[in-house]
Amino acid sequence: MKIGMLTGGGDAPGLNSVIYALTRICTRKFNCELIGYKFGYRGLYENNFVKLTPESTSGILHKGGTILFSSNKDNLFDYLVDDGNGNMVKKDVSDIAVENLKKEGVDILVILGGDGTLTSARDFARKGINVIGVPKTIDNDLGSTDVTFGFDSAVNVVTENIGRIHTTAESHHRVFVVEVMGRNAGWIALHAGIAGSADIILIPEIPYTLENIVKKIKERDAAGKNFSIIVVTEGAKEKGGQAVIGKVVSDSPDPIRFGGIAAKISHDLEPLINHEIRSVALGHIQRGGETSPADRVLSVRYAYEAANLIAEKKFGNMVCLKNGKMSYVSLEEVIGKSKFVDPMGKLVNAARALGISFGD
Ligand code: F6P
Repeated sequence: MKIGMLTGGGDAPGLNSVIYALTRICTRKFNCELIGYKFGYRGLYENNFVKLTPESTSGILHKGGTILFSSNKDNLFDYLVDDGNGNMVKKDVSDIAVENLKKEGVDILVILGGDGTLTSARDFARKGINVIGVPKTIDNDLGSTDVTFGFDSAVNVVTENIGRIHTTAESHHRVFVVEVMGRNAGWIALHAGIAGSADIILIPEIPYTLENIVKKIKERDAAGKNFSIIVVTEGAKEKGGQAVIGKVVSDSPDPIRFGGIAAKISHDLEPLINHEIRSVALGHIQRGGETSPADRVLSVRYAYEAANLIAEKKFGNMVCLKNGKMSYVSLEEVIGKSKFVDPMGKLVNAARALGISFGD
């Protein structure tokens, strides 16, 4: 038996942990060969891979990033290729990938990714490839699993950085707006905001008004707390307003990159309050560095479950965590099911009970 692996989409802490664990578990369990395609699906198209062995993957369990590299641009079902006349056109090149798998004798493909990457995983399963999906994203917005690896690591980084902002904000009696990732889902801001004692958490699921933000800041001023920390998800928006787009990556299947909401809020808010404001966008710092212990353990659990699915030949599925238990779900059911913060949910209510404002 030969197993291929690839990592697609934005990297997330935990990818290397899964590669490490799956390589070890499958080598010991099946005595099989493993290869890893480089740069996600592009490697599958170009037949660019490396051998994965317990030796070659030694020492990577704790490391963020992915030793296989990644790309969030390469959808082989809609891929940019030269038409032979120097023009770049989009084409379905998935058959070339299937041929490459056959050529290398790969029996099973384990695909680590978020919604976009798993959509292609489903499409390869539909073409008859034995696919197993493993869910990753720091955004934690995949609906078919309780939690994705990468999320806990990102929350740790953000929480630590809110702590750093706290001491300087307090020293200067300033208001700080801290922008975090998450796209349209407020999970990182909500968890790190609570853990880091933010005063105001702004998430895409709960549109804010400047008036309500000002109210909370003035409330704190009146209580003698002359600084405030606002944590905002990159995709958050003012009531009746639009999210702030930072960049359009035109050759990416999902071209919109959010960015700039913290700077916008700072600009809009400063004339309305009696403080200097600074904004900080934590950006890719949230995805970098070491993988948190919880994410390492979660990744090992996912890898172990993926190996079990391989043993039972249950292909076309994604491993998942359901009510705290390892399980699996058909890739057909995974796609397009995003998970957002419930504005009326218990965690939001618990935060409100602490006195945290959501700007609504
Ligand atoms: O989906 C993960 C994520 O980190 C988002 O939170 C963020 O909006 C996006 O990827 C950034 O993408 P890129 O790495 O292309 O800048």
